[in-house]
Amino acid sequence: MENNQKRAAIRDYVRKIFQSDNTGHDFFHMQRVARTAKEIAACEKADLFICEAGAWIHDIGDEKLFSDRKKAIWDVKDFLYSIQCTEEQVDRILEAAADVSFRKGKTPESLEGKVVQDADRLDAIGAIGIARTFAYGASNDQLIWHDDDGEQKNTSIQHFYDKLLNLKEMMNTDSAKQIATERHQFMETYLRQFMLEWGSTQENEQDV
Ligand code: NI
Repeated sequence: MENNQKRAAIRDYVRKIFQSDNTGHDFFHMQRVARTAKEIAACEKADLFICEAGAWIHDIGDEKLFSDRKKAIWDVKDFLYSIQCTEEQVDRILEAAADVSFRKGKTPESLEGKVVQDADRLDAIGAIGIARTFAYGASNDQLIWHDDDGEQKNTSIQHFYDKLLNLKEMMNTDSAKQIATERHQFMETYLRQFMLEWGSTQENEQDV
């Protein structure tokens, strides 16, 4: 099988697995990460096929999404062999994907793993990152935001301060850093406007 056909088969496999996701890890997240990974790979002179394939499957086996993580990985491994990926390809694809899914926060060793991790992180910031954050929050019964100091701030807006605003500095590759800068600024603008509107609502309440 040519790499083009393998790519199409991987896309179809991933579509079946993630078609009913409502946590922001849907098929289109995988599609965006695969496309971004390919773009970064081209700039960074990484292996295009390994990066794209690794990006397609990077969330398979994530413990947040799969009850039987090991089985999910075994299944995808079997699948990759069934579409005639070589042993070397299977190993490199799984390595690039595993670096993202299971060791979040750690820097992958392979260039391809670094590229996939960057692509996944880029999808967590900017306009799409904002949308995904609220989708994930809703699927976990979280509030959008509250400003009650005595209460735990397990809210979607808090997630920006805890994680998303740090991602720009965590990008592995220069290409990803460039893309991240613009998306980061957009999030800061968004948060400023959010707090402005939130504050004015609060003041109105006090006036009444
Ligand atoms: Ni992901």
